[in-house]
Formats: sequence, C-alpha cells, structure tokens
Amino acid sequence: MASEPLQTLPVASLQPCENPTMLTRDACTALDTQDPLAGLRAQFDLPAGRIYLDGNSLGALPSATSRRLQQVVAQEWGQGLIESWNTAGWMSWPQRVGDKIARLIGAAPGEVVAADSTSVNLYKVLRAATSIQHRAQPTKRVLLSQRDNFPTDLYIAQSVCAAAGWRLEPVEAATIPARLAAGDVAVLMLTHVNYRTGAMHDMATLTALAHATGALAVWDLAHSAGSVPVRLHAADADFAVGCGYKFLNGGPGAPAFVWAHPRHVDAAQPLSGWIGHARPFQFIAQYEAAAGIHHYLCGSPPILGLAALDCGVDSVLAAEPLGGMDALHAKAGQLGDLFIRLVDERCAGFGLELASPRDAAQRGSQVSLAHAQAWPVMQALIARSVIGDFRAGLGGDPDLLRFGFTPLYLRFADIWDAVQALAEILGSRSWDAPAFHARKAVT
Ligand SMILES: Cc1ncc(COP(=O)(O)O)c(C=O)c1O
Repeated sequence: MASEPLQTLPVASLQPCENPTMLTRDACTALDTQDPLAGLRAQFDLPAGRIYLDGNSLGALPSATSRRLQQVVAQEWGQGLIESWNTAGWMSWPQRVGDKIARLIGAAPGEVVAADSTSVNLYKVLRAATSIQHRAQPTKRVLLSQRDNFPTDLYIAQSVCAAAGWRLEPVEAATIPARLAAGDVAVLMLTHVNYRTGAMHDMATLTALAHATGALAVWDLAHSAGSVPVRLHAADADFAVGCGYKFLNGGPGAPAFVWAHPRHVDAAQPLSGWIGHARPFQFIAQYEAAAGIHHYLCGSPPILGLAALDCGVDSVLAAEPLGGMDALHAKAGQLGDLFIRLVDERCAGFGLELASPRDAAQRGSQVSLAHAQAWPVMQALIARSVIGDFRAGLGGDPDLLRFGFTPLYLRFADIWDAVQALAEILGSRSWDAPAFHARKAVT
C-alpha cells in the first residue's frame, strides 16, 4: 500500500490527564498478564529501567547469544582451531541459518543463505534480475522503485542501472500500479515495510501486477523478516533480501540473507567468489557456480556473526508454538495501536502528526510521529530511558520520531510509560534544553 499522507492527531483536549475515560497504566498491566507471548521476554538481556523501542534498527541481545559466542570463541575457535570448519559445521552455517530464516519468510528449506550485507545481496539479485530480463525482454530498461525507499536500495539500483544501461525511476508509492501499467518496467524493486513510516506494501498484489506487465519483483525484507508474516512463495516473488540485525536480533552488522525463486536461482550473480563455487576445495582456476542458492555465497562465512545471528533467529522462532509470525505481528499491531491511542489521549496539541498507517494491518512493527523538533524531543526521551530514533524529513517533509514495537520483549505497560514520558517532555518543553539540540554522528 502507499505510505499515507501525514495524519494530524486530534487536538481536542489539551489537558487529557483530567479525562476519566483515559486508559490507565493498570489496564495496560492487565493486558500484559493476559498476553500469551509475555514469556518470550525472558529470552533477552535487557538493560534495567530502559524501554527499548528501537528493535526495528538494532534488535536486542538474546541471553543465549552471549553464551553461544563465548563457546564458539573459546571452544570452537580457541580449542578446535581450523578443524572446526569441519567438526563444528562452520562451513554449512550460512545454509543452516538460511533454513531457519526461510521458515519466517515463506520460503522452502535450501532456498535461503545468510551472507554479506543487505546492500551487497541486493546488488547480486538486481544484477541477476537485469541479466534475466536483458535476455527475455531486451526492450524493457526501467528499474522501478519508491522515492522514499531506503537510500542504500536506491544507491545500489543506480549502479546496477548504470552498468546495464537502464534507467532507475523512483516514484511515489501510490503511482506504482499506474507506472507498471505503461509496460516498459523490467524490474520492480521495493522495500516491503517502509523504514520511515512502517507502511507495508501488499506484496502479493504488487508482485502480480509486476508479472502481469512483464516485470520481475524484487523485495527488500529488512523491516519485515521477524516482524511481519512474509509469504514469498505464496506471493510468487522473484527475489528477496533482508537484514539480520533488526527484527532478527542478530547483533550489530549481522550477516544479511538472500532468496531467489527456484525458477531464477541458477541465473548468474556477479560476485563469483570461491565459497559460491561448486567445488571450492578443489581450487580450480575456472569459476563454476554451485547449484541453487549456494552460489550466492561469495567469501568465507563470518562465523562469529553467524553464531550471533543463529541465536537471534532462534529468539524469533521461539514464538512458533505460540502462533509464530502471525501472533507476533498481531501483538506488534496491538502495541502500536495502544501507542497511537495513548498519544492521541495524552499528547494532543503538542504538534505531533501520525506518519504511519493508523490501520495496524497496513503497518510493520513500527509507528512514526512527525514533529518539527523531532531531534531534541527524541534526545530528551532517550535521556528518560525511552529509546527510539530519529529520521530527518525528506524533501520538505517533517522530521520523524520512530518507535519500533518488538513483540518479543515489549510489554503493554512499557508503551504506557513511554507515552507518559513523551507527554511530560512535550508538556514541559524540557526537550528545548541546549544539550538535547546537539547532533550525533549516528541517528
Ligand atoms: C530497507 C533497508 N534496506 C537495507 C538496509 C541496509 O542494510 P545493510 O546495512 O545490511 O546493507 C537498511 C538499513 O537500515 C534498510 O532499512
């Protein structure tokens, strides 16, 4: 779906605290008591007293990760040394984690590998997609994307288009169906859940539209994997990539993942490294691609990163007996709905605008609020131990406060406390202290 125009929150009551119909903290605590997913929080080492609403940017640390990394470092590396490539199964780790990720994104075993970064994997699949289309439909030379797609997606698409002699067209989300209908688009490349607004595209509908007009559909699942139910096969998508360090809790700079539909998987990808060779340890001079998704591997697998990603993916798979991704996304939607309702009730009149879809079914696990002073407001929130993040407005749009609602470890009472802090910061204008205006390198 299109990312919505900003919706202004109701400004009816400037003193909402006096409204007796307002939701109480006790009511939120009661929701936690009834929450069947509440026990999943025990999997994480969360800093005491902090409310972490930034799992859409860097997932929290599962306790199992520290133990596993210690074991991999001390035992597998320290004691096993080079033998561990064989004895500890290091070589097949990209495929084994890939199989676990496949369960979260509607892919089959053997179709996903964990490797490299999302940016690099996007380069591989876009080059594969351009070569497929160059052969099948050489007159189509447009790569269609969204204006407010994540910048790395657009940057990678720019270099792929330059190499292929194609044109990148980044358009407004709402105009994608009409632009496809013109019939000259070779590849549609979209991020399923928008990083700024959390607005979620209808993957099946847009993929079907792309196919009907002769285009391939490439999806970036950076904000979807571990956040929303994804059904790549059911949507008949062509290629997908995604991030390990966000909702998959794989740790800073975790390996990313890549999937190609079986009908495309053997198309050449450009980074023909030795780990993607059919027989890497025969050290043959001529490249010969491994079968299936394995040839999307390039250099040596990053074992410490894969160990952490494995634990992070397990923390999401722990929800499988409790309803899996459907249950997780339903809770994320409830957390987001609660947040929006409490912001409506407690923060009216303070210049906030909802920048995300109000309908939870059209959102990922994130809600963004626009505010003219979003930077100092977020710094003041962080000083109150409520951790969200900031994204600068694009092309005249207002700056954004982003809040991620990871259902694995967030409680309904956390949402109440976070909005209470936001209301107090806005009401007292404490955000206007000079310290909160100082900029940092990483936002
Ligand atoms: C939609 C999207 N794609 C790609 C990336 C970057 O991924 P990587 O750093 O793994 O290249 C991000 C990072 O936030 C993102 O939001």
